[in-house]
Formats: sequence, structure tokens, C-alpha cells
Amino acid sequence: MNYKNLKQLVQKSRCTRRFKQNQKIDLNDLEELIDVARVTSSAKNMQPLKYILVTKEQFVKKLATTAKWAAHLTNWSQSEDEIPSAFIIMLNDKRIDGFPMFDAGVSFEAISLAANSKDLDICALASIDKQVCKELFDIDDNFEILLGIAVGISNEKIELVEVTDNNTNYYRDKQDTHCVPKRDLPQIVVGKY
Ligand SMILES: Cc1cc2nc3c(=O)[nH]c(=O)nc-3n(C[C@H](O)[C@H](O)[C@H](O)COP(=O)(O)O)c2cc1C
Repeated sequence: MNYKNLKQLVQKSRCTRRFKQNQKIDLNDLEELIDVARVTSSAKNMQPLKYILVTKEQFVKKLATTAKWAAHLTNWSQSEDEIPSAFIIMLNDKRIDGFPMFDAGVSFEAISLAANSKDLDICALASIDKQVCKELFDIDDNFEILLGIAVGISNEKIELVEVTDNNTNYYRDKQDTHCVPKRDLPQIVVGKY
């Protein structure tokens, strides 16, 4: 893969919130995503992250309907015909003395890229209902729930756009395209020596 291909994959790897229905994603698909995350960098190589894979319809529905989707979109909420096909729950194993938040970011991006390379789409959900997760999956106190990752096939158009007036809130335009403002290079490269 060259730089151009990699950049295209990263640009395509967006968080989506409107998913196609009746798209079967099996545990093997999810395991392949975790198998990529498994070999990413980890602070002190402690690897404290663990995962629960969820494809059973009733669990997926419960997770989707109790998470908070798109805080910036005040006139939209996810309907039942937009819910994802599967979920990954990312956990920190507290018995391992690592740096879970750093590792979680690394892992999430790896899962996102791996998903896109398989024509799947994802959404990170810090707002996943942790109590619901504990009850559904018998998660004991050794684990801290870090992140939900919805997995499915996107049913929306998403575009990266420029940040104007320093406003990074995502929005939907008149054509219903989900627009995600990203700061440009001069805004984020604050030193060149
Ligand atoms: C750690 C993390 C937590 C997130 N939690 C949520 C969430 O609870 N609900 C939601 O709708 N989106 C959530 N998102 C998605 C962000 O809103 C999204 O990344 C942002 O709008 C930029 O879009 P992009 O991922 O396509 O670049 C989360 C993203 C990250 C990285």
C-alpha cells in the first residue's frame, strides 16, 4: 500500500450513524478486526485491552437504543431501521497495569481502518450505556468499559469539509450529507524548524 492508498482509506474511515438493515455480520468478521487491533502499539506493551463481540440481534438492538448518537445533531435521532448490525465493546482489564486510554485510541483507529478495508463501517460510542453492558454481558469489576464500537454497513453520505469560524461541529447539509469539519494542516502544524 502506498501513501495515496493509505490516505484514501483513512479519509473513507468515518464514523457513521445510519446503517443498512439486514446486513449479516458474523463473529468471524469482528474477530478479524480485533486481530488487527491485537498487534498495534501499546504503551509499555502492556496490552490491557480486552473485547466483547456482539452479533445477536436483541443485544445489538439494546446497545444501539441505549447509546447516545450524534450529540451535535439536535433534529435527528437514530431510528430502528438505522441501527448497526454488530457491536464491539472495548474493555480495560484493570489487573494489567497499562495506559488504557492511549491504547484505546490506537486500537479504535486500527479497528476502523480494518473495517473499512472489509467494506464495513463503524461508529465509536463513548456514550454506550455501561450499566446495560454490565447486565447483558456479565462484566465483572476487573473490567472497565471504555468504548462501544458499532459495526455495520453505512447508509449515509459522509464528507470531510473545512472548518469555518473555528466551528468543528458536524452537521447535515441540505442534501442530507453528513459533513465533518476537519482542521487543515496550517491550523494544526504549529511549529516547523
Ligand atoms: C473516543 C470517541 C468517542 C465517541 N463517542 C461517540 C458517541 O458516544 N456518540 C456518537 O454519536 N459519536 C461518537 N463518536 C464519534 C465522533 O463524534 C466522530 O469521531 C466525530 O464526529 C468525527 O467524525 P469522524 O469519526 O467521521 O471523523 C466518538 C468518537 C470517538 C473517537
